[in-house]
Amino acid sequence: MVWICPICKAPLTLKKLTWQCENNHCFDCAKEGYVNLLPAHQKRSKQPGDDAAMINARRLIHNARLYEPLAETIVEIITGTGRVKTLLDIGCGEGFYDAHLTDRHPDIAVYGIDIAKPAIKLAAAAYPGHHYAVAGSSHLPIETDSIDFALCVFAPINDEELNRVLRPGGYYLEVGPAPRHLWALREALYEEPREHSAKQRQILGTTLVSEGQCQYEQTLDNLLINALVMATPFAYRGQREKRAALLARENMTLAMAFSWRLFQKI
Ligand SMILES: C[S@@+](CC[C@H](N)C(=O)[O-])C[C@H]1O[C@@H](n2cnc3c(N)ncnc32)[C@H](O)[C@@H]1O
Ligand SMILES: [Zn+2]
Repeated sequence: MVWICPICKAPLTLKKLTWQCENNHCFDCAKEGYVNLLPAHQKRSKQPGDDAAMINARRLIHNARLYEPLAETIVEIITGTGRVKTLLDIGCGEGFYDAHLTDRHPDIAVYGIDIAKPAIKLAAAAYPGHHYAVAGSSHLPIETDSIDFALCVFAPINDEELNRVLRPGGYYLEVGPAPRHLWALREALYEEPREHSAKQRQILGTTLVSEGQCQYEQTLDNLLINALVMATPFAYRGQREKRAALLARENMTLAMAFSWRLFQKI
């Protein structure tokens, strides 16, 4: 087990239904099996992270398999790095990519953290074999040098914390939008749509091993158009009339375009 106490950083062990450290800090295991390791002083708002409506919309999209080719690419990349015993999904949401991974590699111990409690609740209820905690990426409640592979898909990351928890030689895969991801959606919402910037950042203490793109098209019906808009930053953006017209469309074909970068800790 790799959880550590968010207060004193000592390892946590599960005693009955409570996670406890040697200094007697205690954290209840919720009925879904997750643990809340986000202390009040690390919360910037009452309910940090994505809200329940966004998370439910994302689950609907994932159930409709819109992101399945990306999930397959991620599993291939992880498989290609060799023996992975522990994987940490940072900003895991409702655990979609974790499920794909353990379908193929049931022996990998999957840990997932997300700052949004509704996301972790859904993930823990759906995948009882995984380990989930409510926590922020800037204070990972994870032992130093304990993770073979860290994954972050469209979520915020803290490079220092990432580096601390990865074991030397461990890998980190970052997945984000390619410049024209969901382009037709942008065209529908904005007069002058803009491309995502192609970030080429370095991560201290790691080397870039490989990078690539995953691109395909998906055709969405009205329900999925609405769910996708709700699950993305577009939920509250764009011109009002344009958004109403978009949400009324019967179907739409969209470019799904992702960039990935694989790093290895030195
Ligand atoms: C776009 S969603 C991606 C979720 C999941 N990785 C996926 O691709 O389905 C971003 C996730 O990051 C979470 N998040 C936002 N800020 C965070 C933080 N500081 N630490 C951990 N998670 C955070 C949100 O709650 C949300 O679940
Ligand atoms: Zn403690």
